[in-house]
Amino acid sequence: MIKVNFEPKVDIEKTTEVLKEIAHDKMGGWFDLPRKFDMGEFARIKEAAKKIQEESEYLVCIGIGGSYLGHRAIIEALHPHSETKIIYAGNSLSRRELERALEKVGDHDFSVNVISKSGTTLEPAVAFGEFKKKLIEKYGEQEAYSRIYATTDKKQGALHDEAEACGYAKFVVPDNVGGRYSVLTAVGLLPLAVAGVDVDKLLEGAADAAENAIEPATKYAWMRYGLGHKGYDTEVFASFEPSTMYFNEWLKQLFGESEGKGRQGIFPASVVYSTDLHSMGQFMQDGRRNLFETIIDFPTDEMNAKVVQAVRVAHLDGGIPVLDIEVPSYDEQGFGELIYFFELACAISAKLFGVNPFDQPGVETYKNELKKLMS
Ligand code: PA5
Repeated sequence: MIKVNFEPKVDIEKTTEVLKEIAHDKMGGWFDLPRKFDMGEFARIKEAAKKIQEESEYLVCIGIGGSYLGHRAIIEALHPHSETKIIYAGNSLSRRELERALEKVGDHDFSVNVISKSGTTLEPAVAFGEFKKKLIEKYGEQEAYSRIYATTDKKQGALHDEAEACGYAKFVVPDNVGGRYSVLTAVGLLPLAVAGVDVDKLLEGAADAAENAIEPATKYAWMRYGLGHKGYDTEVFASFEPSTMYFNEWLKQLFGESEGKGRQGIFPASVVYSTDLHSMGQFMQDGRRNLFETIIDFPTDEMNAKVVQAVRVAHLDGGIPVLDIEVPSYDEQGFGELIYFFELACAISAKLFGVNPFDQPGVETYKNELKKLMS
């Protein structure tokens, strides 16, 4: 069970109201997801993962933002074992990166999982075009199409229409789950299953958190809210496991996109210790005092645990509020709990700040400007 080491002032009435709003929001589908998972879809995901593992040395996961950060975070953190390796593409518009991914696949057997809820985002669309061409050159059109897995909207969008027309295997991003809350849907579960992550355990962890994490998530949200009002406008997520770097990226997206609107929100930053104690350590200890630190405290070895202890004492001494989130285990169960805990805490926190946790008008502005320039 996730534990926190702080006791902020919690307004119970307001919390109840906010939780009700979240559960009934038209984008609040993730709230009950671990309890009401569509087991038919889950079986299809596992079947597709098996097929991909049997016929491919690489699975190219194409997607950006919420369509790739969550599964990448877990895969990088857990280093699961699978003969099929995951490659990422379509998370930038850098031609160099795209060429690199194409080169890495080379002559190996591969499949593609293209993930886009809207089905119209430019970065994944460009990468998908290139990888589709490569698939067709290697396997011919018919087999190429049988190696494409499209995770997108149920009814609309360019990707949806193409999947229907070409007969790609299709997985759905539920209408009521937004990109950054979608890791426990087919968006995350298909690549995770291919990579060898125990997705049953992951969902079990999330289901446990849905039962038990409301209290710690509420405390964490109120703590952030209180600190935000005292002028602490930056939160630094600190982990002591280098492999959780992408988990930090997922966190930054979750909080940045959910909270940063209406001139509100706490700016999310991250460090990985002890590595970053030799780069950011100075600032953390003695720089401008507008930040607080949230330690994601995984079970660890004795020596690393001493670093956690030293950082906590030193930074408290340096005048930084240090929050501690204790994770029960460094495995699928622990990450399942952590994902649900942070999703819930983030949604509550955004609501306390008075903003909608589930839209991203700023991202849409960029997408529209880019589309105009490209056309
Ligand atoms: O969280 C979000 O909604 C965004 O980060 C999206 O995931 C991202 O912009 C990609 O959008 P799409 O899945 O529609 O391609």
